[in-house]
Amino acid sequence: MLHDIDMPFSLWSPMRGISTNDHIPLNFVRIPNQCITYGSAEIQTGLSGKATLRAWYFCSLHLHSSTIISHTKAMTNTLDMATIQADFDRLALLSSETWDHNNHYHRFLLRQIPQHCSDVLEIGCGSGMFARLLAQKAEHVLALDLSPQMISLARERSKQFTNIDFQVADVQPLEFSSGQFDCVVSIATLHHLPMEDILTKLKAALATNGILIVLDLYQARLTDLPISLIAIPWNLVLKFLKTGHIMEPKAVREAWAAHGKHDSYLTLVQLRKICREILPGARVKRHLLWRYSLIWKKIPAS
Ligand SMILES: C[S@@+](CC[C@H](N)C(=O)[O-])C[C@H]1O[C@@H](n2cnc3c(N)ncnc32)[C@H](O)[C@@H]1O
Repeated sequence: MLHDIDMPFSLWSPMRGISTNDHIPLNFVRIPNQCITYGSAEIQTGLSGKATLRAWYFCSLHLHSSTIISHTKAMTNTLDMATIQADFDRLALLSSETWDHNNHYHRFLLRQIPQHCSDVLEIGCGSGMFARLLAQKAEHVLALDLSPQMISLARERSKQFTNIDFQVADVQPLEFSSGQFDCVVSIATLHHLPMEDILTKLKAALATNGILIVLDLYQARLTDLPISLIAIPWNLVLKFLKTGHIMEPKAVREAWAAHGKHDSYLTLVQLRKICREILPGARVKRHLLWRYSLIWKKIPAS
């Protein structure tokens, strides 16, 4: 019999996505008072309908970390999507489209767009800032976002663009035709999704010679510390020059902090491993302001 079990993790884990006090609904055959192995974690089930993480095999953690992350993401999906939507509905009401760590890289991303682009897909378009830039380079842009508030803002701000189709949608259950898009773009969004699944889907949706362009956040490790130390003062200088202040208004800080509590990212090592398997030849580049870009061209199969 399958049960939804709320699993409180009570151990600190070095992996993002599983942290102290995370509650993860698990679907598994529940056997009271048994110890089961899930990935490289050992889970104790109890009569109360709760399961607790009993031990973590650190030696196998390294080998299995990406698998566990994708399982974890899949398990948390239903729960997360409603939460993420609520977070971004709240953030939409505070959106000012001033300089940030994502739009700082818009020019770099635009340079990756192919010359003659007919159909472009943007996933997680937010208030539509990048979709409007895409619309100047492509014939048609399909821009999706989970948050109805974001889409209504995007439509409001993009009235003069007749070639953008803004839609409220969770990209996960959507089925695209094979080779439907010349270019697929996603900015600061894919970390909300199981990475292997979404990259596989987007790969199939790209036409031959189509380009996948991703900008997203990554989980910094100790080896990323030197670059962060350079980024911190540079970020403050840029922020002040571009916006005239170094601190966001309180309401904005609080909304991002609330969202950050259930945000998780892959490390660059994990991401590169996934790319080797799904998108061979992908260029993954670390950028200064806590972002990476992933650029992949779908070359004709030989
Ligand atoms: C951090 S915001 C980035 C917005 C925009 N790309 C930018 O750079 O300003 C992430 C966006 O992804 C959207 N999102 C998250 N999960 C999604 C999903 N499964 N399908 C579609 N959109 C999603 C959120 O609603 C949010 O607007």
